[in-house]
Parts: sequence; structure tokens; C-alpha cells
Amino acid sequence: MFPYPGEQQLRNLIEARLDQVLPASEEPPTRLHEAMRYSVLGGGKRFRALVCIASSVATGGSVDQALDPACAAELVHCFSLVHDDLPSMDDDALRRGKPTCHRVFGEGLALLAGDALFALAFEVLARMEAPPSVTTRCLQWLSEASGTKGMVGGQTMDIEAENSALDPSDLRGIHERKTGALVGASCAMGGACAGAAEEQQRALFEFGQLVGLAFQIWDDVLDEEGDASMMGKNAMSDRTKMKATYVSILGLEEARGEAERILDLAMKVAGPFGEKAEALRNFAKRAIRREC
Ligand code: IPE
Ligand code: IPE
Ligand code: MG
Ligand code: MG
Ligand code: MG
Repeated sequence: MFPYPGEQQLRNLIEARLDQVLPASEEPPTRLHEAMRYSVLGGGKRFRALVCIASSVATGGSVDQALDPACAAELVHCFSLVHDDLPSMDDDALRRGKPTCHRVFGEGLALLAGDALFALAFEVLARMEAPPSVTTRCLQWLSEASGTKGMVGGQTMDIEAENSALDPSDLRGIHERKTGALVGASCAMGGACAGAAEEQQRALFEFGQLVGLAFQIWDDVLDEEGDASMMGKNAMSDRTKMKATYVSILGLEEARGEAERILDLAMKVAGPFGEKAEALRNFAKRAIRREC
């Protein structure tokens, strides 16, 4: 699917780079480093890393150029999952088929491991081999997508919306921030690494944000009808927590339809990238339906 190398090889490359940038578990404080490695390695679809690399390829860049931003996006994502599972947030016990970080290491260490992963993401970007202007642009994309305008803002709105009836446009705003922004930044960073023009980076962000929105809607659907053996996390978590989701607001059928409509829109946004973006488009389509 990618010009070079195959998708599984790409996942191996990502895994190896993540392994390299994470602190060794023998290095003190060892429990912290164990908790970080536990939460990042050996699981996860690597969706954000893969769309980052595919976006680099789509704009004439290489896999290698995008590997560090791809890993930085995954580190922010893994941090967000560790905190998302905490008792004070979604209070979940299972993640990627294993007990959640706080269940194994305790809440204090889960908080700190998340903090350290967040810092590490920006260290990886700051140290990457790229022209300073590219590094700076990647730092901007990732910090903006992670903070109040992105993931953290969206997660805040998500917990505030528990037990309340939202209208669909408010819910869309939450999903765009908590999940769409990071997927958007992953794509935009891929473009930045390839030396794509600002306008192209913005189009990649828009594409990724729509793809991330559809991905989160599908996640809401799976929470209702998936099972733990397939997802590696417990189903019906949203219902238990009275979360505002596309399923709770629109119902299953309409939620699926909305994800498909948003995906079609994303494909239109990626249209001008032509054949080079074929892998990016195909991957996004399959990832939303969790077919890869
Ligand atoms: C889970 O993301 C959280 C959402 C934003 C829906 P993923 O489904 O990408 O989780 P992993 O990385 O594959 O475990
Ligand atoms: C998580 O959304 C979004 C994040 C920013 C972590 P969910 O709470 O639906 O993710 P899961 O279902 O726990 O993976
Ligand atoms: Mg959540
Ligand atoms: Mg959750
Ligand atoms: Mg969910």
C-alpha cells in the first residue's frame, strides 16, 4: 500500500523508534519508566503515526523524514489514553487487552507517566533531524492540537458533558478537539516534514481532523456494539459513564451514517493530492472501520 516499505514493516519501524526514544526500564526512576513503556509499547494500531508518514509520502517526502513526528504524535496519544482511563476520568480497567496503567502502577504513577510521555513527545520533535523551520512548524502543530484548542480542551468538554443532553453540533466540537485535532496535526506534520507549502499542510490538517472525527464517531459505535476481545477495551464504558456520544445523541444507525458522510468529505479534501495520497486515503478509510 505504501511505496516503501509495507504496512507491517512500517509498524515495525514505528515500534522500534518508540522503543529507542523511551527511557530504559532499568534507568531510575525505574517504575516510572516501566509505566511509560507499558503504556506505549506492544499494542495500539499506530493510526496517528501511520497517517503522519502517509502524509509525508503524499506530499513527496519520505518515511524516514516523518518517523520522529509520527512517534511524537503516538506519544501524545498514549499519554492521553493513560489519563483518559484514570478513575477521575473514564475509569476504565482494560486497554489494549491489558489492565490499564493505573491498575498496574497506581494512580500517582499513571499521572506522572502520562506527564512524562507528553514531555517526551516534544523532546523527540525538538531533537529531530530537520531544518529548524520544519521543527518549529511541527512543534506548533503538535502543541496546538494537544492543548486547550485540541485534545485537552476536548477532554475537558467531554467530562463536563457527562449526564447532559448536547446538540449534535456541540458534540461535533468535542470530538473534533479531543480526537480530530491530533489526527489532523499528525497529517500536517507529515506534510511539514516533506517541505509541503503551508496551504497543503492546512489541507492535510483539515483532512486529518475530519478523519479523526469519523474515527471517534466509529469508536462511539464500537463502544455500544463491539466486544472486549476485538477492541482490547471494555464495551459499554460510555453508557456506564453517561457520556455524550454520537450513539447516545443520534442512535447507532444515524451515527454510522454520519461517520460515512464525514469520511466522504475527508476524501474530497484529500482529492487534490492525487495519486500520491492513495495510500493515505485507503489507510484512513480502513482505519475508521478498524479494518487494519
Ligand atoms: C482510542 O484510540 C481513543 C480514541 C481516540 C478513539 P485508538 O483506537 O487509536 O487506540 P490505539 O492506539 O489503537 O490503542
Ligand atoms: C478518548 O475518547 C479520546 C482521547 C483524547 C483519549 P474515548 O474515551 O472514547 O476513548 P476510549 O474509548 O477510552 O479509547
Ligand atoms: Mg474519554
Ligand atoms: Mg475512554
Ligand atoms: Mg470510546
